Amino acid sequence: MAAETKAVLSTILNIEPIDLAYTGLKKDSLKGEVAVVTGGASNVGLGYARAIAWAGAKVVIADLNAEAGAETERVINAENGPDTALFVKTNITQEEDVKNLAAKAFQKFGKVDILVNNAMNMRLNGPVLSSPISDLDSSFAISGRGVMLAVKEFVPGMIERKHGVVTYSATQFHYAPPMVGGSIYTAGKAAATSIIMSLANEVKGTGVNVFCLTPAGVMRIDMSKFPPPPKDAPIPKDAPKFNMAMFGMPGFNGMVPPEAGGAAMVYCILHAEELHGSGIIITDAFNAMNFPYPNPATAPKPTESHRLSDMELTLAFCTMGPGFKK
Ligand SMILES: NC(=O)c1ccc[n+]([C@@H]2O[C@H](COP(=O)([O-])OP(=O)(O)OC[C@H]3O[C@@H](n4cnc5c(N)ncnc54)[C@H](O)[C@@H]3O)[C@@H](O)[C@H]2O)c1
Repeated sequence: MAAETKAVLSTILNIEPIDLAYTGLKKDSLKGEVAVVTGGASNVGLGYARAIAWAGAKVVIADLNAEAGAETERVINAENGPDTALFVKTNITQEEDVKNLAAKAFQKFGKVDILVNNAMNMRLNGPVLSSPISDLDSSFAISGRGVMLAVKEFVPGMIERKHGVVTYSATQFHYAPPMVGGSIYTAGKAAATSIIMSLANEVKGTGVNVFCLTPAGVMRIDMSKFPPPPKDAPIPKDAPKFNMAMFGMPGFNGMVPPEAGGAAMVYCILHAEELHGSGIIITDAFNAMNFPYPNPATAPKPTESHRLSDMELTLAFCTMGPGFKK
């Protein structure tokens, strides 16, 4: 690894080098765009922010975590050049914070073209019966109120300029199936997905495109914390580039590294017109990109990836859009 890359990566953030050229994405495909990523200082949002910046856009990171946020700004600027990124400490549930975010974003970059609603408190995941009501309030505050505040702050300018993309990091679970566990998280997610899909109807034809992207299994696993996989585990030869664990989730062959999640987001933003008013699960984005994840030989075929189990079918209205043009 080059010395400068090592210096950039020597950080509290859990990241790997980013170079998305191998995905087919073009380095300047988002040049001239300005994006806001909420929850952009960790995992999925961090992958989105870095990938969007890699593709040439300016990025505003809105996050509660000031230390990780400042570090995200530093890393993105080191990777892409000074003044690519701006961190604004933001609690997206607070109206004055979101207004401050917008003021800082407009002051620095003059406009916002892309709004990535991604923030969430993943610990708000208890069952209905044993969770305090304050957990439900917090879940709705981030996923409902926070999304609506950001939409109201940034979308009018997009409509005025007839150009914009609004997206949301949805989940495929709109109530808690056994594998997810708690319900407080899914209740909040469903509220935000509903707001986003309603917005898609409201802004139809204005030049603003709105869709949900469901990350599903995006995280970096520290493999040193796990026993070595069995000898015949289906880890593709070309995968170790990423720190990938093969956990065999249904429909998935492993965990998706955040940088790859970011590549999928960039692809979806570039295809936002096709996706308007729908949701897309990340594996479909990879299929559409012919992404080498996890391995072309074992990747689900596009038609299979649309096939949802009975359990998912009742839950997954956000994944049941038209998807990409085939
Ligand atoms: N990881 C996955 O595979 C997966 C799957 C489905 C959906 N999602 C969704 O993707 C999003 C990101 O997930 P993640 O795994 O990266 O979670 P994460 O917990 O790693 O990151 C969430 C980020 O949001 C920030 N945040 C929390 N509350 C905030 C607030 N009030 N204001 C501003 N920032 C706030 C946190 O500080 C953190 O940086 C979430 O909305 C999650 O529901 C993730």
